Amino acid sequence: MYVLGIETSCDETGVAIYHSEQGLCSHLLYSQVDMHSEYGGVVPELASRDHIRKLVPLIKQCLQESRLTSNDINGVAYTAGPGLMGALLVGAATARSLAWTWQVPALAVHHMEGHLLAPMLEENPPEFPFVALLISGGHTLLVRVEGIGHYQLLGESLDDAAGEAFDKTAKMLGLGYPGGPKLSALAEQGIAKTKFPRPMTDRPGLEFSFSGLKTFTLNAVNASEKTDQDKADVAAAFQQAVAETLSIKCKRALQQTGLKRLVIAGGVSANKQIRACLTEMVAKENAQLYFPRLQFCTDNGAMIAYAGCQRLMAGQQQGLEIHARPRWPISELSGC
Ligand code: KG4
Ligand code: ZN
Repeated sequence: MYVLGIETSCDETGVAIYHSEQGLCSHLLYSQVDMHSEYGGVVPELASRDHIRKLVPLIKQCLQESRLTSNDINGVAYTAGPGLMGALLVGAATARSLAWTWQVPALAVHHMEGHLLAPMLEENPPEFPFVALLISGGHTLLVRVEGIGHYQLLGESLDDAAGEAFDKTAKMLGLGYPGGPKLSALAEQGIAKTKFPRPMTDRPGLEFSFSGLKTFTLNAVNASEKTDQDKADVAAAFQQAVAETLSIKCKRALQQTGLKRLVIAGGVSANKQIRACLTEMVAKENAQLYFPRLQFCTDNGAMIAYAGCQRLMAGQQQGLEIHARPRWPISELSGC
């Protein structure tokens, strides 16, 4: 079964074709980063317009690279939310129209479910059940995963998402957009001389809060002489605080659930220090850590094609309506 996957929830146009037995056939990604960087962040209207320009050519190219035609496609999966409404509508309307024309099912996929299942595209995928830490630009979620669609929310951020905290802190340090990778590169030049707070780790629970850490970081920058080295040191201290906070909460989640498998996914899971910190923690817990390859940490079409294929094989599909939900709690999903 071949499933075409379409991702347009934010600033990346992702397209992929996944086969239920052969795996990933091809995947393409167009990033709008250059266009938005001029404005210091994503401009929703520009994002939607660019998805319109890029999506259909990418779909054609993806079919060509897989040596397939539209007749081979058994389903069209698209990100139906959460995300930017206009951007979502481009992918949803295109996917729904193609599915109707090709007379195949359309599958509305939850973006965070896509991230959560991205490690399944790797050679040594995790078995269910596992704990998943989903860290992206818009979400920070700890989820107990029993199977596809069976997600129990264990904890989430009460304010900024981890990626948002990286992006806003990067802006404070005068780094461009997207801030996460830039802050991470700067942190490598610095030394975490001061210990920044590890928010909400001094009390029980699996919730996160990154807003106070961001303010603490701003105060630290202002109190310094703002040399390049000062900024690098602040970046290092901030990154270490985020990595250790995530690690403490994941350790708690593993202990609380009794599970021995931890999956990390979403854009921030590309961060080297976070990976290293979690790798060290799981080793001490006699647990296993799973994460997607770097290019599948951030937004991509492959994870949407994969998630859509699993749901299609389970007999799920949507009607003729176009689904787009800017806000969509992952716990509302039903199982396969
Ligand atoms: O999953 P994603 O591509 O999009 C959303 O679903 O939001 O995540 C994007 C987020 C951005 O906040 C970006 O700054 C962050 O992931 N990010 C990173 C790194 N690479 C991307 N944050 C820290 N370190 C990185 N290496
Ligand atoms: Zn994402």
